[in-house]
Formats: sequence, structure tokens, C-alpha cells
Amino acid sequence: MSKLKMNTRKLRKNKLRAGFKPLQMLTCYDFQTAQLLNQTELDLILVGDSLGNVILGYDTTVEVTIEEMRIFSSAVRRGAPDKFIVTDMPFGTYAIYEEGMKAALELFQKSKTDSLKLEGASQVVLKIIKSLTETGVPVMGHIGLTPQSVHELGGYYTHGKTEDSKKLILEQARELEKAGCFAIVLECVEKGLAKEITDSLSIPTIGIGAGLAVDGQVLVINDLLKTGEMSPPKFCKPISDLYSLKKDLITKYLSNKNQEILNDLEKNSLHH
Ligand code: KIV
Repeated sequence: MSKLKMNTRKLRKNKLRAGFKPLQMLTCYDFQTAQLLNQTELDLILVGDSLGNVILGYDTTVEVTIEEMRIFSSAVRRGAPDKFIVTDMPFGTYAIYEEGMKAALELFQKSKTDSLKLEGASQVVLKIIKSLTETGVPVMGHIGLTPQSVHELGGYYTHGKTEDSKKLILEQARELEKAGCFAIVLECVEKGLAKEITDSLSIPTIGIGAGLAVDGQVLVINDLLKTGEMSPPKFCKPISDLYSLKKDLITKYLSNKNQEILNDLEKNSLHH
């Protein structure tokens, strides 16, 4: 029997207006961090295709493959058996209905994730979401800035600033709810619009760079802890600087000044 502390029945009801606390979701890509998160109050783990940027060093998430998502998602599952996991379907794997269904079912089954996330709300995406939810695969939607479409969008920026764009995103949110999504990520959506969407849906919205009038927040854990050299996006103020800390520690170790470590290495080395 499942040990999950969260499930789609609870998630679907998790609206701020119904008195629930904001949902907290963080990305995670590896076994050890998953083990740590498994012991926290975090509601949801996202194995995001942002792993392409922060783990694999790709320029965009467009390069991420389904096999990579399976490997990282399986590692997180092993580390966090009690957490509800959302796994991204990567670019291009759900552009065609039949191929999308096959890829999604395979990723769901092999990675043992609890749900999948698809970007956008095109006719084919809506059709796949409807079929997946009817088959028993929970799906999270993702609209606003959809990084897999960065080439078509022409960059990373806030969405929903014009009347046309507002109308389109609101309509997409409603269609995703109708198709069966249990929650929707609003990425870089103008905050007034994020509130309007949140008010008009019965399922929760989870924002990233979309203000606070949403039912939950998601952040890339590497941005939150600042594990990399580059500054995180401006909507994420890091709570640490792990990059500098690790750099200082390794520099100190390499300078051979850390006699304690060297003594330990000598003392505890194996003799054959
Ligand atoms: O891949 C990811 O990390 C995401 C979040 C930014 C929502 O999709």
C-alpha cells in the first residue's frame, strides 16, 4: 500500500480560499536530496526538465530526453518513497497523440512517479491529458512561460500583459481543468492574471514568478540554495550561497592546509 502523505484527492481541494495552506513544491533530481526532502513537510517534489539546465548543462530544456527523465525520476523515487512526485514530460515527446500516450505511459510506469507534467494547452496536449487522466495517470498542467517553447516564444519573459494574452492564458487554464489536470503551474504569469485564474478554477494553481495570489509555489531547488555560479532568476531570492561555500571548502582542502582531513585519511586508510 502507498505510503504517500499527499494524493490527488487532497491536492485537488487545496485552494487558499477554502482555508488550506499554500502548497509547497521544490524540484529535485537526485537520490540524496530526495532522501532529505522525504523527511520534510514539503508537499510535492517536481523532477523538472530544468535538470537539463542545472544538472546536465544544456542551453535549454529542449535537449532533455525521455530516458534522462526516467533515470532522474527513478532516483528521486528511490530517495523519497513518501512524497508525491511530479515528473516532466520532455520536449517533443508529446507532440503527436499516439507517440505522446506511449511515451507518457512508459515514463509513468518505469519511473514509478506519481504524476506527469505537460507544458502548454494545444489541442493535442489537451487530448493527451484527457486520455492519460482517464487511464489513471494524474497530470499537472503548465502554462504562461513554457520553457520548452523558448525558441517559438523568443525568450523568457512575463506572460499575460496584453488583453489577448490574458484571454488566451485564462482560456488555457479552464481547458486544462476540463481535460482533467489536478493542478496547474503558472510560470511568469502577470500576478493580476494569476489571481484571476486562481479565483476561477476549482483546482489549485502553483506559481513560479507569478505573485502570491496562487494556491502554492514551486522553485528550482538549485536556485533557492544557489548551488551554481550563475545568479538565479530575479523572482527567486536564494536562502544560501552553497556554491561559494563548496568552492571555499574545496579550495581549502586542495591547499593542503586542512591537516585534520589528511590525518584522518592516513589513520583510516585500508591496509592490505
Ligand atoms: O522544469 C522545471 O523545473 C519546471 C518549473 C520551473 C515549474 O517546470
